[in-house]
Amino acid sequence: MPGLRLAGKNTFITGAAGGIGLETSILFAQEGANVLLADISEAALEKAVNKVKEFLPSGSEQKIVGLKVDVSKEEDVKKAIESLDAQGGVDVVFNNAGIMHADDADAVDTPEKIWDLTHNINVKGVWFGSKHAVLSFRRNNKTTGSVINTASVVALVGSATPQLAYTASKGAVLALTRELAIVHAREGFRFNSLCPAPLNTPLLQDWLGDDQAKRHRREVHFPTGRFGEAIEQARGVLWLASDESGFYNGQELVIDGGMTKAYVTPEGPAAPAPKNNAFGQ
Ligand SMILES: NC(=O)c1ccc[n+]([C@@H]2O[C@H](COP(=O)([O-])OP(=O)(O)OC[C@H]3O[C@@H](n4cnc5c(N)ncnc54)[C@H](O)[C@@H]3O)[C@@H](O)[C@H]2O)c1
Repeated sequence: MPGLRLAGKNTFITGAAGGIGLETSILFAQEGANVLLADISEAALEKAVNKVKEFLPSGSEQKIVGLKVDVSKEEDVKKAIESLDAQGGVDVVFNNAGIMHADDADAVDTPEKIWDLTHNINVKGVWFGSKHAVLSFRRNNKTTGSVINTASVVALVGSATPQLAYTASKGAVLALTRELAIVHAREGFRFNSLCPAPLNTPLLQDWLGDDQAKRHRREVHFPTGRFGEAIEQARGVLWLASDESGFYNGQELVIDGGMTKAYVTPEGPAAPAPKNNAFGQ
């Protein structure tokens, strides 16, 4: 499908059955990519693959495949990325899977096992994805490659509602991404981080539930008066994945409706939100 923004690219997305990952899988597919959707949840993955296939351009022969992967297990990540060698090797890796545990708290109350679990998925998972991206780019003689790692705005600004393990894990994502960007710049391999605002996806919304006070504590800090939508992140990831961002490297793409630039936020009704392709439909 020449003319599409990711025509012929092989892409690998983790956390692909959830909010940002699924919306990104759809946009990648719409732009001509082959998409390997990886997630730990097999049931959600099957639904996600079927959803993505609905968005393929007509007559497309793109490969949209789901694979159960636990990103904290190197062997899972290695095998998944290596499976794309048969079709020319991966071009784009989106290390997006992450957790925010309900028992994550402050320095005093965060259990060590929650710290370790969070770091195994959010940090080691990104390391394994980045490592096997580099090995694959080299093995397949790629002269360009894009790796996008999901961090968070909490890696940039402090929050009085603490989730210390999560925050530290996302800070680590920024630091390792920046370093990899510099190490591999002359090979043509780019590494950038995505810093999403608090979003209207299950990761946060399930945790907030019906607690209006907890919601308001956050909403008051959003200039637009609303949580972000997954598709707003996916659009940024699409740009980072495509050759259009070819000179953008080692950066933090902050998609937050202005939250990290705000002091006193406006009052009144929230600005309208775009519709996702999958989530909330
Ligand atoms: N939702 C937010 O407010 C927000 C804000 C900033 C950053 N983020 C980050 O964005 C990323 C995506 O989050 P989302 O909001 O789309 O959440 P989500 O919960 O909707 O999706 C996350 C997906 O990751 C999968 N996953 C969890 N552990 C995994 C593992 N070990 N291996 C493979 N897959 C695994 C889940 O099954 C789920 O499908 C995460 O890294 C998250 O930390 C989210």
